[in-house]
Amino acid sequence: MSDLLWQKDGVQVDARIMRFMAGEDVVLDREFFLCDIRASKAHVEGLERIGVVNTGDAAAMLSELDVLAEDFRAGRFVLDATYEDGHSAIEARLTDRLGDAGRRVHTGRSRNDQVLVATRLWLKDRLAELAWTGITIADICLDRAAEPSLPMPGYTHLQRAVVSSTAMWFAGFSEAFIDNAQRAHQTFDLLDANPLGTAAGYGVNLPLDREHTTQKLGFSRMQVSPIYAQLSRGKLEIAALEALGSAMLDLRRLAWDLSLFTTAEFNFVSLPSAYTTGSSIMPNKRNPDVVELLRASYATVAASRSEIEQLLSLPSGYQRDLQFSKAALVRGFTHGLQALSLLPDLLTRLAWNAPAMRAAIEPAMYATDAAVEQAAKGVPFREAYRVAAQAAAAAGQGRTPEQSLSARTSPGGSAHPGLEVLHARLKVLKDTLPQYRPPA
Ligand code: ARG
Repeated sequence: MSDLLWQKDGVQVDARIMRFMAGEDVVLDREFFLCDIRASKAHVEGLERIGVVNTGDAAAMLSELDVLAEDFRAGRFVLDATYEDGHSAIEARLTDRLGDAGRRVHTGRSRNDQVLVATRLWLKDRLAELAWTGITIADICLDRAAEPSLPMPGYTHLQRAVVSSTAMWFAGFSEAFIDNAQRAHQTFDLLDANPLGTAAGYGVNLPLDREHTTQKLGFSRMQVSPIYAQLSRGKLEIAALEALGSAMLDLRRLAWDLSLFTTAEFNFVSLPSAYTTGSSIMPNKRNPDVVELLRASYATVAASRSEIEQLLSLPSGYQRDLQFSKAALVRGFTHGLQALSLLPDLLTRLAWNAPAMRAAIEPAMYATDAAVEQAAKGVPFREAYRVAAQAAAAAGQGRTPEQSLSARTSPGGSAHPGLEVLHARLKVLKDTLPQYRPPA
C-alpha cells in the first residue's frame, strides 16, 4: 500500500485491520474518482486565488490532475488496494510526480468534505440521467397514447370493471413518469449545493474561496454550514434513492401488468422476442424474464435506501460508518437506471392483441355507464345503481366499447384525455432541466 496520509512515526499498522477498514471502498471510489479529480482542481484553483499556493505550483497540480484523469480513463492508472482510498491516490500521485507542490493539495481540505463533494457531483449526474430517462419514457407513452386507441378491460381488484383503452393505459404511465422526472429535478435542486470547503466538518482557518469552487463545479449554491454538510451525508443519498424509487415503483406496476397481460389467460400483449427467454426443460415456453427482473428491481433500490437509513443512527459530525453508504448508493443507482433504460424500447415495441382485449369486455362492464346515464337524467344515483345492478348484463346489451369510451367526457377520461396538458408539463421540464449527456 502507498504511504498512509495519516501515518505517524513508530505506529504499527495491522494489515488485517487495514483490509477491514478499506474493504471494497477503494474499488467503489473508482465510481467517484473523476468527480474527485474535478473537485480537486477546483480546490487547487481556490487555494491559488487566496495566495496559499503559488501560480507555478497550482499550474503543475492542475495539469497533473488532468493527466491523472486521462490515465484513469485509459486504464493506465488503476485505482486498487495499493491505495487506502481514491482521495489518498490523488495526493499520492501528485506527490509522486510533483514533490512538494503535490504535498500542498490537501491544504484546507479534509477527506470528509472531499468525499462529500465527489459524491454530490456524481449524484447530480445520476439525477439528471434519471430525469431525462423519465422524460424519454413519458414522451414515448404520450406518442403511443395518441395512436388509434384499442378498447381493453379496465380492472379494479383484478376483476373486470369498466371499459378502458390502450390510450388510457399509456396516458397513465406518461403522467406517472412526468411526475417522476419532476421529482428527480426537484431532488437535483436539493442536492445542488457545494460542500467543498467545509473541511473536516468545522471549517478551517483560511479564507477559502468557496464562491469560486461553487461556481467552478457548477453548483447553484454553497452548502453553508460545515455541520450541516456532514449531517447531509446519507440524508441526501436517501433523498436521491427516493426519487429513483418513485420511478421504480411505477416500473414495478407496469412490469406487473405486462407479466399478466402476456399470459395465455389474458393474452393482451406480446413482447418483442428479445425480451423473452426459453425454458431449459420445457420446449414450449417463452418466459417474460425481463419484465420479471424489471419488477424485482424495485427491491434493489428500496434495499439500498434502507441500508443507508440504517447507517444514520449517528451523532453529528463525520463518522466512519458513513463510508458504508457508498456501496448501497452505487448499487441502487446503477441497477435502477439500467432497469429504467430498457423501458423506452420495450414500450415502443410492445404489441397489443386487439381481438383478445375486445373479447374480454363483457356486457356487465357497461353497467356503470347505464347507471350514470340514468342519474344524469335525474334519477337519484343510488336508485339508478340498484336498477343497473339487478340487470347488469342486460344494461350492457347493444353497447359497444367505442360508445363507452367516447362518452367518457370527464376531464382525463377517454373522450377528453387532456394529453395537451401532459405535453405542456413535459415541455416545461425539458426547458428547465439541466442537460445530461451520458458518457460515451
Ligand atoms: N472512505 C471514507 C468515507 O467514505 C473517506 C473519508 C475518510 N475520512 C476519515 N476521516 N477517515 O467516508
